[in-house]
Amino acid sequence: MDEFVMHTYARNEVAFARGDGAVLYDADGNEWIDALGGLAVNALGHAHPKLVAAIADQAGKLIHTSNLYRQSIGEQVAERLARLSGMRAAFFACSGSEANETALKIARKHQREQGRPDRAAFVALEQSFHGRTTGALSVTHNPKYREPFGPLIGPVTFVPPNDVDALRAAVDDATAALILEPIQGEGGLTALSDDFLVAARAACDASGAVLIHDEVQCGSGRTGRFLASQFVDAAKPDLVTLAKPIAGGLAMSCVLAREPFDRVLVPGDHGSTFGGGPLASRAALVFLEELEGGLLDDVAERGAQLAAGLDALVRDHDAVLERRGRGLIQGIRLRSGAAELVRECFARGLVAGTAGGDVVRFLPPYVITEQQVSTALDVLGAALKDHPNS
Ligand SMILES: Cc1ncc(COP(=O)(O)O)c(C=O)c1O
Repeated sequence: MDEFVMHTYARNEVAFARGDGAVLYDADGNEWIDALGGLAVNALGHAHPKLVAAIADQAGKLIHTSNLYRQSIGEQVAERLARLSGMRAAFFACSGSEANETALKIARKHQREQGRPDRAAFVALEQSFHGRTTGALSVTHNPKYREPFGPLIGPVTFVPPNDVDALRAAVDDATAALILEPIQGEGGLTALSDDFLVAARAACDASGAVLIHDEVQCGSGRTGRFLASQFVDAAKPDLVTLAKPIAGGLAMSCVLAREPFDRVLVPGDHGSTFGGGPLASRAALVFLEELEGGLLDDVAERGAQLAAGLDALVRDHDAVLERRGRGLIQGIRLRSGAAELVRECFARGLVAGTAGGDVVRFLPPYVITEQQVSTALDVLGAALKDHPNS
C-alpha cells in the first residue's frame, strides 16, 4: 500500500516486525544486528523493559495536556539536562530540525536586541546537515537539498570544517549565529578539531554572534560524554540542540541555553504543541536515568572496541582509507562503494548506514553488547573481503 505514502525516501523493502536490545527481526524471524539504531535514535535498543513499562504506565495516566499548564515531568527532564550539559534551561520541541529552527530564532532575536547590524547572516560549515525545515535547511550545506526550495533565509556563508582562517574571516558583527556539529553526522563523520572548536568560541565572543552546537546526532551520550563538546575546554556553546535518542525513540528534541540566552524568548515568541509533553518526557527520564546509571561508561567501552576493530580493517584493507568518529558514532571512509558495502552487510545480517563522502556509518544502540560489536566487525570484515575494491 505504499502508493498512499509520499515517496520521499528510497526505502529498503524489508519491514522489521520487532526488536530486542540491539537485534531486529522481520515477520519471518530473520534477524539483524542493529548497528544503526534507527539513525541514532534507539539508544536503549528495542523493547527496553524499563522504557516499555514507563511508557505504558504514563499512557494510562496522561499522554498530553498542552503547554498552557505546568509540565511537571518535562521540568524534571530539563533539570537533568541542565545538570548533564552545564547549560541553564531547555525549550522542548519534537524534531532536530525544529530544535535548530528554535536556536536560529533565539540567535536572530538576540542579535536585534544587541543593536548589532540588522542582517540575518549565518555562518555554517561545508558538509553540514541541520534538517529539512526552512531555517534549518538554509544552514544545511548540500545544494541538492536546498536549491529546489529557495529563497531561504540568509545570507549563509559556508566554511570548510577545520579551516580556522576561513572561519575567522567569515564571522563578523553581522553574523547572527555560527552553527556547527562537533562531529558531522550526515556529512561523513568529520570530527571538528579542538583548535577549530575553540576558535569558533573565540570568533563568536569577538563578534557577538551566537554559537550554536547541533548535537542532534553526536550528542546525548553517543561519544561517551553527554555532549561531544565536553571533550574540549573553552568550546562551550551558547545554545546546543539535542534530539534523536533523548526520549528513547519517542519524538522529542530540545534547545539548551546558557545564560543569558535562556531568557531571549518570552511568552508569545515561540511554541510547540507537543514539546515537553508527559509521555515523551517520561521516556526521556528513563533514558537520562540509564545514562547517569552507568550507560555512558558502556558507550565509552563499546566505542573503544569498535575503534580498535575498525582500525584493524583500515590496516588490512586497501579499500578502507580511514576510521572516523568517536564512541558509538563511528565509521570508515572507503575509496568508493559505501552504499554497496552497506547492502552487502545487510544481506549478512548487519544493519549499518552510509554518510557523505563514501563513509559507512555505525550509530548502534548504547546497550549493544561486546559480543554483538565483535560479530558486527566480523560481518563487516567478511563483506569487505568480497568488496570489489578490497
Ligand atoms: C546533526 C543533525 N541535525 C539535525 C537533524 C534533523 O533532525 P530531524 O530529522 O529530527 O528533524 C539531523 C537528522 O539527521 C541531524 O543529524
